[in-house]
This record gives sequence, structure tokens and C-alpha cells, in this order.
Amino acid sequence: MRIYLIGAGVIARTHALAAAKLPEPVDLRAADPNPAALADFQSQFPGVPTCKDAAEMLNAETPLDDDIVIVATPPSLHLGPTKLALQSGRHVLCEKPLAMNPVEAEEMLRTAERHGRLLGCCSVRFKGMPHMEAVKRVIASGALGDIYHVTFVNKWERSRSGIEYQPGSRWFLDSGKSGGGVLMDWGPYDFATLNDILQPSSIEVAGAWTAKPTTAADPIDVPFDVETHVGAFMTFRGGHRPIHVHYERASCAHGEEYVQAEIEGTRGALRWMPFDSRQPVFLRLDKDGTIDEEQVETGPRGPFTIMDNPIVHFHRKVRGLNSQANTGRYAVDIFRCISALYECERTGVKQILAMNREGGGGH
Ligand SMILES: NC(=O)c1ccc[n+]([C@@H]2O[C@H](COP(=O)([O-])OP(=O)(O)OC[C@H]3O[C@@H](n4cnc5c(N)ncnc54)[C@H](O)[C@@H]3O)[C@@H](O)[C@H]2O)c1
Repeated sequence: MRIYLIGAGVIARTHALAAAKLPEPVDLRAADPNPAALADFQSQFPGVPTCKDAAEMLNAETPLDDDIVIVATPPSLHLGPTKLALQSGRHVLCEKPLAMNPVEAEEMLRTAERHGRLLGCCSVRFKGMPHMEAVKRVIASGALGDIYHVTFVNKWERSRSGIEYQPGSRWFLDSGKSGGGVLMDWGPYDFATLNDILQPSSIEVAGAWTAKPTTAADPIDVPFDVETHVGAFMTFRGGHRPIHVHYERASCAHGEEYVQAEIEGTRGALRWMPFDSRQPVFLRLDKDGTIDEEQVETGPRGPFTIMDNPIVHFHRKVRGLNSQANTGRYAVDIFRCISALYECERTGVKQILAMNREGGGGH
């Protein structure tokens, strides 16, 4: 199988490592206009053919039915390469956030449908990990009763992409290139997780806010106009009763850092660390009138990490196997959740999204 990488930066290299773990031999190719990025890539993956131009790379070979292109460029450069690759007759796995806005995301989907190719998104990265599957099993067992409330807070004090994390990629700070801040960066995982676990048929965003706390480390020599703290109050509908979701995500805040992911039902509650698959899952039930907390069995860890997951799931989808990949309409709807928060924050108007499960993968 051939996998083409458009962009040869930090994440492209993790995709290249993951491709080597697929259950069949993979021939890689990579394109990046930045000679320094290409040189770094070549030193880590000697022998992989590289070139400066994505179109040149794709046009150099007749497409095969199972060719996969991974788009690993900054978000403002997702639409062009994705369309180019789909039009060349290849399946596309695009990095998160899928696009800069819903109009671009819909254009990607239309192009995929027109050319009969798959469009996947790397928002899938944490899906299928044992702790996530354990959470889903407990919910499906009915042990929690009717779920009515979810707290989903991931608040870090200093972890801004482009400053404390990966300072070489300043584009993260520039909304013209990144589309936004921590919500664009981490929201795809948050909403892929919430949708996977709660499986709503609609989401109402009743209120949302964003903020950019200032620090002495803020760069002044580059555009920096993205939020680093975001929150929303939402209602997920489609199950027995509406589920009220308190959402918060920060890469920079002056308040105390903490992670709290908790699902509360009429008979029990579940607490876990969504983005740390090594941490336990706790189930809290009433026993004789008091709380009884037990650790949920999550089973053995699989051979794949969160960095492997996007191509592992997408490869299964391309091969027609049962897969957790986020593809097609489902991938676009997850992205639309993020846009709905921005829109609610910008206009102050409640947003209601219909969520489609088509393309959401095996559950
Ligand atoms: N870095 C991470 O930990 C991480 C994790 C998950 C997802 N992502 C996502 O992956 C994408 C890329 O992020 P990154 O961290 O690898 O950025 P990066 O800055 O390390 O690399 C981006 C690369 O894209 C190249 N590029 C720009 N225009 C191009 C074009 N027209 N054709 C081909 N290549 C082009 C740049 O030269 C650069 O080498 C983003 O959407 C990001 O959100 C990054």
C-alpha cells in the first residue's frame, strides 16, 4: 500500500512511524515546500522519496484504489491539499482540525463524495483506547441509570501550542493559519470523545466563552490572536433524557490546573482521564446509602498508541474492516461542534446541531 504525506513536519513523522506498524507493507512518499522540514524528515526516514510540491508527488504516479494521502499541514492549508488528493482519486486522512470553517469542511466532503473516496479526520486519535472502551461498556450496561450531567474539563496552566509546546510552529498562534486557539487544537478530540461516548442525535450550545490570559512569555514579534481558554454549556439530546455538559479546555489559565471528566447518572457516576489512557476509570455507586467507588477493569493495552490510531483506524476503513475511523459526514459534524462554540461565543445566540452517526465507525 502507498501512503503519501502532504507536509513533513512534526505530526507527519509520527504518521510515518505509525504506518510501519500497519499489518501490511507500506511505501511512503512525502512532500513539503520547506527544505529544512524535508531534510529532517529524510534524516529520520532515509529512502522515502520526497519532493517540494504535493501536486507533483501525486501526479507522478497513476492512483491505485487503496492509495491514502495524509494531509499534515497547518489548518489553513488543509482544504487545498485535501481537494487535490481526493481529485487525484485517493482517499484522504486529514489532520485535525479538519478545516478552517464549516464551509471548507462541507466542500471537502462534497469533493470526497463526488470522487467516491473516503475523507477521514485525525480527530479519532483517542478513540478505541481501552479506557474509552471501558467507559462505553459501563454506559451501555445501564449501571449509571439515566445520565443527566457530564463534566468535561481539561485545564492546563501553561501548554500553549506555539509557545510552551512546539515553539518552532508559531502558526498555532495566528488565527489566519490555525483557525483558532485551544478549541481548534484540542476541541476535535474533545468532541470526538463526547460524541463517541454519549452518541447524541443533536447538540445544543446554550452559551460559550473564550479568553486569552496574558503572560510574560507571550510573543510580541509574531501574530498571536487566538484563545487559550474556552468554555461552554451544552445539552446533548437523543437518549433517555437530555444530558447537560459542562465543558472547559485551557492551554493557559491563571486558575489552578485540573482535569475532571465525570458522567453522572441517576444510579451512579463514572470518572476517568480521557487523554491519559494509563489512568484508571472509577465507577461510583450507592451501597447501603453511602458511596462505594470501584476501579473498572479496562483490559490489556493494545499494540497501538494514540499517535498510531488515526492511520490504524483509517487503514481498516479503506480495507473494508470494522473500524472506529471518523469519516465522511460524521467527521464533518464533529468539526461543526467546534464551529458552533465559536459562533455561539461570537453572536451570543444558542446553536443547535443535528449529529449524524454515518461514518462514525464501529461501536
Ligand atoms: N504537533 C502535534 O503534536 C500535532 C498533533 C496532532 C495533530 N497535529 C496537527 O497536524 C497538523 C500539522 O501540525 P504540525 O505540528 O506537524 O506542524 P509543523 O509546523 O511541524 O509542520 C507543518 C508542515 O507543513 C508544511 N507545509 C506547509 N505548506 C505546505 C504545502 N502546501 N504542502 C506540503 N507541506 C506544506 C510546512 O512546511 C511544515 O513542515 C496541524 O493541523 C496540527 O493541528 C499536530
